[in-house]
Amino acid sequence: MSSTPTVEVHRTVDEVARATAARLVTRLVDVQSAGRVANIVLTGGSIARQVHRTLRDSPAVSAVDWKRVQVWWGDERFVPASDPERNELQAREDLLDALPLDPDKVHPVAASDGSYGDDPDAAAAGYADELAGQSTPEDHGDVPTFDVLMLGIGPDGHVASLFPEHPALHETRSVVAVRHSPKPPPTRVTLTFRTLARAREVWFLATGDSKAGAVRNALSGAGQLQVPAAGPRGTERSVWLLDHEAAAALPKQLRYPGAR
Ligand code: 6PG
Repeated sequence: MSSTPTVEVHRTVDEVARATAARLVTRLVDVQSAGRVANIVLTGGSIARQVHRTLRDSPAVSAVDWKRVQVWWGDERFVPASDPERNELQAREDLLDALPLDPDKVHPVAASDGSYGDDPDAAAAGYADELAGQSTPEDHGDVPTFDVLMLGIGPDGHVASLFPEHPALHETRSVVAVRHSPKPPPTRVTLTFRTLARAREVWFLATGDSKAGAVRNALSGAGQLQVPAAGPRGTERSVWLLDHEAAAALPKQLRYPGAR
């Protein structure tokens, strides 16, 4: 089963960040109240960074039992651990270092100077093993079920490090290395479509007018090979959290679902 996308348009980037942070607290509390450890997948990019900082500074952040949250990444730039381009480093600076997380439940992708050395295929295989190690029989596969998967989107429609027409889009493994990424840095590690499909809720975050065309295409029936953002859908919910600029090219009935 996959959900029909819904669109939420906010006036400003700040409001997108606040709405997403609030939504995340509520979602995590709901999952934990149901007795489960929550699995969340983080994304990189400027709006994600703003969400992370907004969440860190929110008084509601303490409502979550952070010891019962597993943290994953949808993709990672394959650079040294200290490189400021690393999604992990940015997320730690913006949010994770301020939370009382269980270090064993934080799952960064290996860096290019990490335990697998400068071999992105080995780092990808290592991440696949880590995902498999956390999956349970209820997950029916080698990947845990994610409660929330957040995805930024590029002006070209990429999500995670799945770029239009790139060979990684055809992968059947759960995690793969990406070489020759059209956006620097060229070497990355990414979850594949089949892994992104393991999320109950997928939240797309997009702000600014450079995203308007990609948002419209993803929501208007484009194929996932041309517009990767058209692919992932939550099994329970898919939400597009947009500011006015990113929503500007959407047909009226998508921007205002009640409108005729
Ligand atoms: C990358 C980016 C990318 C990002 C989107 C949205 O290097 O691939 O980090 O995945 O999530 O491009 O980024 P913005 O929120 O900065 O627009």
